[in-house]
Amino acid sequence: PDRVFSGVQPTGSLHLGNYLGALKKFAALQHEHECLFCIVDLHALTMPQEHGKLAGQTRHIAAAFLAAGVQPDKALVYAQSAIPAHTELAWYFNCVARMGWVQRMTQFKDKSGKNAEAASVGLFTYPALMAADILAYKATHVPVGDDQKQHLELARDIAAKFNHDFGEPAGEPNFFPLPEPLIDGPGARVMSLRDGTKKMSKSDPSDASRINLTDDPDTIAKKIRKAKTDTGSVPGSVEELAGRPEIANLVGIYSALSDTTDAEVLAQHAGSQFGPFKNALADVTVEAMRPVSDLMRRYLADPDELDRIMSRSADAARAISEPVMVDVRRIIGIHGSA
Ligand code: TYM
Repeated sequence: PDRVFSGVQPTGSLHLGNYLGALKKFAALQHEHECLFCIVDLHALTMPQEHGKLAGQTRHIAAAFLAAGVQPDKALVYAQSAIPAHTELAWYFNCVARMGWVQRMTQFKDKSGKNAEAASVGLFTYPALMAADILAYKATHVPVGDDQKQHLELARDIAAKFNHDFGEPAGEPNFFPLPEPLIDGPGARVMSLRDGTKKMSKSDPSDASRINLTDDPDTIAKKIRKAKTDTGSVPGSVEELAGRPEIANLVGIYSALSDTTDAEVLAQHAGSQFGPFKNALADVTVEAMRPVSDLMRRYLADPDELDRIMSRSADAARAISEPVMVDVRRIIGIHGSA
């Protein structure tokens, strides 16, 4: 039996990359699998946050999950901070992971920038907490965008070393599953609308570089019409997208939003000028996003209902993680756990 876990940080507003790389996949997975979708508010603390905003941001992401189609009777939607297992297991994993493994993480290098000395220690050990998020439930599958691939590999390394160091001596060499990333499919790597070589990101200073889940239809259409493109036209085949990152990105967004393939989109628009192609893409995007942003507004208008959903989910998540943690303490040999 498999179990799906994924997390999203409550920092800034969500964008089309988060939607296609993560949220849309969450909704698709809930019908066939046991699913836990977590708002990782403790991860948000690794970077400076505006005082007093965290709880509201956490609710905002919960509303986005639900608006994207996650159903509270099918999947769990809750805050990381509600479940103590995450931080306890993160400590054990901090003691399992090796400095050299964590030092290789490109996201730490990107986020700490030129002044790594001033980064929080939490930003450095971030991937150990992420591994704990997943393994506190012995989750087997993790839907994420391409940018999380390296963190997932580290989570697998941590699980394997824990199994070796503690599981084997205790006679449970496969104690933790090695979690599999689910990254495939269109939308796993949505790029900036201003630069086809950079990923679409919450932290890009240019708002025109991304479509926010909260953008109104006019803003969405304008951003797409202004998206950077080269001087050509729409090619006829997927091979011809190579070396043309901007149009490749727009075609990828088109196919991901309309649940089709790049080849299909190209067959429809081959030879078209970018103007009409962008108009068509703007229509597709506005139509796909409209129900999401409408629903999101509706959920946000009823914070008590959101809190009820999150609290019920947290109780169910705790019921899964607690027995795992009892076993973790026992196989490590913590006092009083035998
Ligand atoms: P976060 O909050 O930065 O992003 C949330 C999800 O959105 C995906 N994503 C993208 N997908 C496609 N194109 C893009 N341009 C794009 N930008 C972001 C991310 O890959 C992610 O799936 N470390 C994680 C949160 C986390 C987590 C976990 C995920 C914490 N614990 C356990 C999975 C399992 C993060 O910062 O995602």
